[in-house]
Amino acid sequence: MKVNGVDFDNYFNQYPDEKGYFGKYGGVYITAELKEAMEEINAAYQTICKSSKFISELRKIRKEFQGRPTPISHLERLSDKLGTGVQLYVKREDLNHTGAHKINHCMGEVLLAKYMGKKKVIAETGAGQHGVAMATAAAYFGLECDIYMGSVDIKKQAPNVARMKILGANIVEVKHGLATLKEAVDAAFAAYANEYKDAIYCIGSVVGPHPFPMMVRDFQSVVGIEAREQFKEMTGLLPDAVVACVGGGSNAMGMFAGFLNDPVALYGVEPLGRGTKLGDHAASLQYGTEGVMHGFNSLMLKDENGDPAPVYSVASGLDYPSSGPEHAFLHDCGRVTYDVVDDEETLDAFYKLARLEGIIPAIESSHAVAYAMKLAKKMGKGAILINLSGRGDKDMDYIIEKYGVR
Ligand SMILES: Cc1ncc(COP(=O)(O)O)c(C=O)c1O
Repeated sequence: MKVNGVDFDNYFNQYPDEKGYFGKYGGVYITAELKEAMEEINAAYQTICKSSKFISELRKIRKEFQGRPTPISHLERLSDKLGTGVQLYVKREDLNHTGAHKINHCMGEVLLAKYMGKKKVIAETGAGQHGVAMATAAAYFGLECDIYMGSVDIKKQAPNVARMKILGANIVEVKHGLATLKEAVDAAFAAYANEYKDAIYCIGSVVGPHPFPMMVRDFQSVVGIEAREQFKEMTGLLPDAVVACVGGGSNAMGMFAGFLNDPVALYGVEPLGRGTKLGDHAASLQYGTEGVMHGFNSLMLKDENGDPAPVYSVASGLDYPSSGPEHAFLHDCGRVTYDVVDDEETLDAFYKLARLEGIIPAIESSHAVAYAMKLAKKMGKGAILINLSGRGDKDMDYIIEKYGVR
């Protein structure tokens, strides 16, 4: 299949190119020293991803430790309640060990770190899901673990902070700026610059310098590959549409990877937060322009000086002023449609899924559910598969405190 000149039959062999570019997006925009560190990681990954020992070890971990394959659930009551004629389904990444898709790439990244002889992993976290998954992987493989987290998110995601501490991770509080995800990434990069000989910085999404957008996508692609097969087995067909939320974009890229070459409409959902004013949302693909931050070129929300703009979302994991370079590329070529939902629509979806289906979704994933509910009205018939990237246990205290029980 070709879309605007991009050949999806042969897509994964072509993108990214050997310099880490998806069209004009991606690349490696960091100091010469860190460039060397990225080259070392890339070389190790290129060797290891073809090694049958690495592949079978990762498969075994996924099956026996993580709980893969995760199921697909048919949302019968929610579909009936909407009454649109469209059937909604969710890929249950919330049922992974540690409660979200993040463990898919963390086990891969830390297994790679172990093969490379590293002693420590460094990571940033927003919602705490990547931090918990990384702390879990570090405990599993016996490596030290430093997690950088903004003060605002430490308060908002207290249950995950406790989990990381119990798992033996060292939490480094980041207090500067808005003290959320962007600042946590800044601080983790700064620490990595001093420690790259013994440590590896395991980036938590399809962002950062090459090879991370490719590597994290590859580790996450298990979601889309499994989902495609399961959905066909369950219904005899492919879904008409696939929907996933986009922060950095790892759960969406993993899911889309299974369907890029199919006649399936793909939707990435960004957080509109409180509204369209700069500072009130984090919809970088929708409202951003080309720019470099955290070592990669992508679409980015900028302030009046061209620096990353302050962003906001009810979901800590979506609260980031850019998105992965591959999403920017898929956005420009038109293969994926990117759209937004706001905080209120998200909360409504959060409660609907809990009350009608008995599933409490992560507030990040609730964005995808909210969008699918709107899309169902537009479509009028067919099937939508949503990537339910995580479970909402981490969000319950915050939601009840801020919004009350509805
Ligand atoms: C449950 C969940 N979904 C989605 C995200 C957003 O990340 P990404 O866009 O990389 O999937 C996060 C980030 O913390 C998360 O915890």
